[in-house]
Amino acid sequence: MTDQPTSLAGLDLRTEIDRLRKDRNAIILAHYYQRPEIQDLADFVGDSLELSRKAASSDADVIAFCGVKFMAETAKILAPDKIVVLPDLNAGCSLEDSCPPEKFAAFRKAHPDHIALTYINCSTEVKALSDIIVTSSSAETILAQIPEGQKIIFGPDRHLGGYLARKFNRDMLLWPGVCIVHEAFSETELLKLKAQHPGAPVAAHPECPPSIVDHADYVGSTSGILNFAKTFPGDTLIVATEPHIIHQMEKALPEKTFIGAPGADGQCSCNVCPYMALNTLEKLYTTLLDLTPRIEIEESLRLQAKKSLDRMLEMASSTVGMGDLGAR
Ligand code: 13P
Ligand code: SF4
Repeated sequence: MTDQPTSLAGLDLRTEIDRLRKDRNAIILAHYYQRPEIQDLADFVGDSLELSRKAASSDADVIAFCGVKFMAETAKILAPDKIVVLPDLNAGCSLEDSCPPEKFAAFRKAHPDHIALTYINCSTEVKALSDIIVTSSSAETILAQIPEGQKIIFGPDRHLGGYLARKFNRDMLLWPGVCIVHEAFSETELLKLKAQHPGAPVAAHPECPPSIVDHADYVGSTSGILNFAKTFPGDTLIVATEPHIIHQMEKALPEKTFIGAPGADGQCSCNVCPYMALNTLEKLYTTLLDLTPRIEIEESLRLQAKKSLDRMLEMASSTVGMGDLGAR
């Protein structure tokens, strides 16, 4: 990954961001899919669940969220008294886009005996229409606590929902959304890569389609994949998720080789999340300088959405389930 320029009109952006972070009493939170230079200056880098917990527990006045909009909105829902800024408000998510609140409300209405177990990659409005939110690292623990007979709608990611339904042998009504990034991996190219690296395990995010997950030795959230990378016994790992996470792997284990799973063109460039990539050092600097763009959420909507998120945080801490999705 090439570093982007670190100066804006002659400024040393890293020094300036550091100064502003102190002046504003700000915490910089970053997802593993952010550019390496942003991950390296963040106060905390994590998966969706860890970032939500960090936002809820931080005593900073400002949260500069380097991730996508639904993640920054989650931070604002859980920490309403803080100023939450996102370097680029256009940092959306194809899963969120696939699930307009009006259509989701109509779907729920058509299935009144189902609860809505909803992936965190959705709008605040859809969270407000849901019963329990899950992340990929908490989905299994939470699903294990839902009684067998309870009917479930799972949205918006049909691949994560399908993976859980198969693993738990549970029927769930799946919303037909996909992540454009994980959908772009190619089974044919993955098999070619495996043949070139015999014995190298594959770690995949559950947003991947079954054609990829079926070849994985480990399936889990970004944090789960990172932990697997730190503990697998070999020297080469094939990584089927957004490739910026490889930065953390290479930092932790410079002696090992991490290869991004390929897209249809045989390269992994099509698996860079275009929304996550919108955040840059320059935008982070101006965001901290101006404290814009801010995330604002109407209070009754926030309170309604908070219910399903609070449920997630309570249930994810329960010891009943098995933690991250783990080995297949
Ligand atoms: P994680 O919760 O595993 O970090 O996933 C977030 C995401 O958007 C994956 O595409
Ligand atoms: Fe959304 Fe996919 Fe990007 Fe994650 S990688 S933020 S699911 S588009």
